[in-house]
Amino acid sequence: MKLNKDQILYLSDAEVEALVPAKQVLKLTEDSFREYALGRAVNPIKLHLPIYPDYEGYINSMPAYLRKLQIAGAKLVSVYRDNPAKHQLPSTIGTVMLNDPQTGKPYAIMGGTYITAARTGAVMGVMAKYTVRTGAKVLTVVGAGAQGFSAFVMIKLAISTISTVRLVDINPASCQRFAQRAAEAFPDVTCLDCGSIQEACTGADVVLAAATSEKPLLADIAFDKGTTVLIIEEDFGNSFVKKFDGFVGDFRECLVERINADSRHHCEITGEPFEELTMESVTSEIGNIIVGKDCGRKSDSEIILGASVGMGIQDIIVGREAFEQALACDRGTVLPM
Ligand SMILES: NC(=O)c1ccc[n+]([C@@H]2O[C@H](COP(=O)([O-])OP(=O)(O)OC[C@H]3O[C@@H](n4cnc5c(N)ncnc54)[C@H](O)[C@@H]3O)[C@@H](O)[C@H]2O)c1
Repeated sequence: MKLNKDQILYLSDAEVEALVPAKQVLKLTEDSFREYALGRAVNPIKLHLPIYPDYEGYINSMPAYLRKLQIAGAKLVSVYRDNPAKHQLPSTIGTVMLNDPQTGKPYAIMGGTYITAARTGAVMGVMAKYTVRTGAKVLTVVGAGAQGFSAFVMIKLAISTISTVRLVDINPASCQRFAQRAAEAFPDVTCLDCGSIQEACTGADVVLAAATSEKPLLADIAFDKGTTVLIIEEDFGNSFVKKFDGFVGDFRECLVERINADSRHHCEITGEPFEELTMESVTSEIGNIIVGKDCGRKSDSEIILGASVGMGIQDIIVGREAFEQALACDRGTVLPM
């Protein structure tokens, strides 16, 4: 298929998912971090549009440009935690647009919900690859929803020795669905439901936090030496970070800004003293670890924290792959501009 200048290609979420499988998202996500660490990416801090308190949600705008790969575009993503229960819609819904870097002209628009879940999970997979101790077997997932499952897939692809997944979720249906999908994708993995987060974390090699909980879930949890704790979603501040020997982030400025804003809000409500996180609190960025400028884990006994805010570069690199595959396989709908 060939696209004319006055046309735009539309791809549904299902089409994107079929065109870019999980393994490829994992590779592309690592590539995007490498480009970023080598100074070949522009990734502004995301713009946050609060819709709360009118409705329980927000919309983020995430533009990005990968200079060497010549990919530009943006993702709009909304997170409405009550969507599954109240509206039978996913909590997290995205749309990705790609623009020609030379002219700015949009040439593709696509569902970004699969891209968001896949690349968010892939960030955790890449962080796990560089921070989890060798021979890891037990993964704990707190919040067995869309992001939690996708991150499990990516962590398993990155660390094939994972054989047990301990699940903690307030909704038993989430655990059930997770276990069913896990059995289909990886028959060598056993999923176990755990009643308490502490029980699930003791003896785990990797802990993943991905729950849409209003209150922090890991604040009082004791982690064993050697554990890697990966955060997709969890409010935490400086006192939590101090428990760890190393803190790996995806995008230092954005991560510190987000954590401080959340932590300040939490302290205003609870009356706890607010302690600001500094740029130095994030001991390394994952891109720098990939290119060998930083070290992920120095010994098997270190307790490592990894957290991501998400970056537009991951969305557009996966979106671009979907676009190229769609042209090659004649998929999608061509629309007039
Ligand atoms: N860091 C990133 O790049 C990034 C990207 C996308 C989404 N997110 C975040 O990921 C979070 C999860 O999104 P999702 O799409 O997977 O939502 P989801 O609704 O599919 O899953 C969330 C799960 O958390 C569970 N949960 C809620 N409260 C809990 C509690 N107290 N204890 C245990 N489990 C609990 C729910 O039952 C549900 O199964 C959202 O808050 C979103 O903001 C982060």
